[in-house]
Amino acid sequence: MPRYSRTLIILHWAMALLILAAWLTSEGGRQVRLNPPMLHFSLGLSVLLLVVPRLIARWWGSKLRIEDPQGPWLNLAAKIGHAVLYLFMIGLPLTGWYAASRMGVSVSFFGLSLPALTAPVQGPAGPIAEIHQTGGTIVLFLAGLHSIIAFWHHFVLRDGTMQRMNPI
Ligand code: HEM
Ligand code: HEM
Repeated sequence: MPRYSRTLIILHWAMALLILAAWLTSEGGRQVRLNPPMLHFSLGLSVLLLVVPRLIARWWGSKLRIEDPQGPWLNLAAKIGHAVLYLFMIGLPLTGWYAASRMGVSVSFFGLSLPALTAPVQGPAGPIAEIHQTGGTIVLFLAGLHSIIAFWHHFVLRDGTMQRMNPI
């Protein structure tokens, strides 16, 4: 059974854990201004940092990419689904960073101060912050759906899809 490269497998599972941890450490509204969730910022920014080597590793290994014998439509659907997940891995940290800047909260990555992405405002943080809050929860649903499909492949279709991402 062909497998994803070791780098992609490690990054896949590390990022799944980071996204879950970012979600668990998230806070909204007033609380963010009063007591900024620095761990949330650092975990979320780790996703942004790791998506770069992950995309490079994916592009590098593109010739090894696995094509399923399940028909072109399902292959296309899987590709679009994975692309949407990548969009969230990039878009969520960036909108979160922007939201924090708009709230006047300084952002740091495990102690390293980062510049603000926009000028702070008084009052509501605006639509980008709302998109971030909603997107932060939507990603969990999408990842849940993605893992249900993976388990479907494993237990029902028994086609070894899960084996490709097996870290052991
Ligand atoms: C994969 C990464 C991330 C996920 C899954 C995520 C998820 C979330 C969620 C679910 C909320 C809403 C919490 C609530 O309303 O109780 C939230 C709020 C927030 N997050 Fe993130 N986040 C991520 C990355 C980041 C990053 C990198 C930053 C900043 C550098 C950030 C800054 C914020 C801020 C400022 C809020 C409050 C927004 C508001 O109240 O209007 N997030 N995040
Ligand atoms: C328990 C949770 C998860 C399970 C069981 C799981 C399982 C898998 C499996 C079996 C594959 C290989 C699919 C194939 O070859 O067609 C895969 C690929 C992939 N998964 Fe997950 N996954 C989980 C969580 C996540 C999360 C949280 C994300 C990101 C938000 C994610 C993003 C991806 C992407 C983008 C791919 C395509 C290959 C790549 O570019 O690395 N997965 N996943």
